[in-house]
Amino acid sequence: MHIKTPVYDFVTEYLTKDMSRLHMPGHKGQNILGCETRDITEIKGADYLLEPEGIIKKSEAIAAQLFGTACTLYSTEGSTLAMKAMLRLAMMCSDSYRSNRKFRILAARNVHESFVHACALLDFDAEWLYGEEMYSVCQCRITPEGLRTALEGMTDKPDAVFVTSPDYLGIMTDIRGLAEICHSQGILLLVDNAHGAYLHFLPESLHPIDLGADMCCDSAHKTLPVLTGGAYLHISNRMTELYGDLYLRAKKAMSLFSSTSPSYLILQSLDLCNAYLAEDFPEYLNDTCQ
Ligand SMILES: Cc1ncc(COP(=O)(O)O)c(C=O)c1O
Repeated sequence: MHIKTPVYDFVTEYLTKDMSRLHMPGHKGQNILGCETRDITEIKGADYLLEPEGIIKKSEAIAAQLFGTACTLYSTEGSTLAMKAMLRLAMMCSDSYRSNRKFRILAARNVHESFVHACALLDFDAEWLYGEEMYSVCQCRITPEGLRTALEGMTDKPDAVFVTSPDYLGIMTDIRGLAEICHSQGILLLVDNAHGAYLHFLPESLHPIDLGADMCCDSAHKTLPVLTGGAYLHISNRMTELYGDLYLRAKKAMSLFSSTSPSYLILQSLDLCNAYLAEDFPEYLNDTCQ
């Protein structure tokens, strides 16, 4: 399959023109570190990450196709940013928000600190779900039965459930089982999949979106060949069926927390990664698993 890499190609073409760089970054493409040449900013034709209409939009659409999502957004500030955007979007879609009540979320206790920062920034309180075997703070095994019991014990049901899977020790949660319970009660399932970007490319996908999660964040840089900071916010087809096209709303949600100067080195790396994922990656992954 031939996969286009519009962001990478734009920078390559820009370099062939050998123009004076009367724009940021201040290094002007001079190689002090060695990687400056390809480091550009939002010049004409380079699109805008937070309001894309050109090469970035095209590249994100290719990523969405590869991951089988309704839409996928790039983050150049890790899952830390993608998670905040995901929570803001879930909040904006929730009944609570629309009826002027506080967003309610039930979260497995081993959340990453970015989740707690999002609670503070978005002004909502999490209710904690404790796992059945908690030998360390890194671990919090939530089973479908455990979730069902926790929900039965709540007088007001939450707008969303949030879990971290794979966790910091590589342990996976039964996302399919949790999704069935959440969806039967009109609750969104959000997953911190920071450690599992590769899961979609296994012979049988174990990626949260394929197992029924409504949204998830993946740190592309953790398990895919992407520069540090590269990540995705994935939005499922189910979310689009429920709330319409969420691409622009998700961009708005992300812009609430992100820098307006995204790294084009990271964007090119995410863009090139698409070609890699469409080519040899599934085979390499399968060999490694064997
Ligand atoms: C489970 C989990 N979620 C989120 C993050 C944040 O990811 P990032 O470093 O891509 O911002 C991390 C980082 O280590 C993590 O381990």
